[in-house]
Amino acid sequence: MNIIFRQEHPDDYEQTEHMIKAAFKNTPVRSGSEHKMVRKLRNESTFNPKYSRVALKNNEVIGHVIVSKVHIINGPKKTPILNVGLVSVSPHEQRQGVGKRLINHVLSIARNEGNEAVIVLGHPSYYPQLGFKRASNWGITLPFEAPDEAFFALELVPSSLKETEGIVEYSPALFG
Ligand SMILES: CC(C)(COP(=O)(O)OP(=O)(O)OC[C@H]1O[C@@H](n2cnc3c(N)ncnc32)[C@H](O)[C@@H]1OP(=O)(O)O)[C@@H](O)C(=O)NCCC(=O)NCCS
Repeated sequence: MNIIFRQEHPDDYEQTEHMIKAAFKNTPVRSGSEHKMVRKLRNESTFNPKYSRVALKNNEVIGHVIVSKVHIINGPKKTPILNVGLVSVSPHEQRQGVGKRLINHVLSIARNEGNEAVIVLGHPSYYPQLGFKRASNWGITLPFEAPDEAFFALELVPSSLKETEGIVEYSPALFG
């Protein structure tokens, strides 16, 4: 079955949010309001609609990923960077490669838009499969406690993170 990856349109929002609720329903760490987090990210002034992508099968939304702009702060230096997440795949479509294809899809859009690197806080065993490395390798740290093995970065342009050490400043929609 063909899966189509494309930009999310406002007409998709309801279906996407329904799918996000279902995707997170059986996860151990969930707030139950992941769909609202995505809604808040779409409403941010810096939101780029190109960065919200869906996977469709038979015209049904079976996956969604959103990336958004955050910053790395180091004293007076403020470097913009993209954050991946949330990522959701419909429960009956999980573990068939949709998540990886969706993330690679949004990363290629991000690269085409001129972004040089991304960060993500996520499953320790998942993101290394996509080429991500621990963010601590570049001295990038979180503004809260989280396991080092769950926080990753990826250079979309080689060596772009060389001088980017600092603390992440998330938007209120993500960790407000
Ligand atoms: C995490 C998620 C987006 C991955 O998408 P997917 O299409 O299922 O994953 P893929 O098929 O691309 O990759 C499969 C690999 O991902 C990893 N993986 C998938 N679900 C996982 C989970 N719940 N816990 C840990 N690793 C997981 C495994 O390494 C798996 O490989 P395996 O099947 O050989 O063990 C999807 O399972 C999901 O929506 N989960 C619920 C919501 C969530 O936790 N989102 C991520 C936090 S933002």
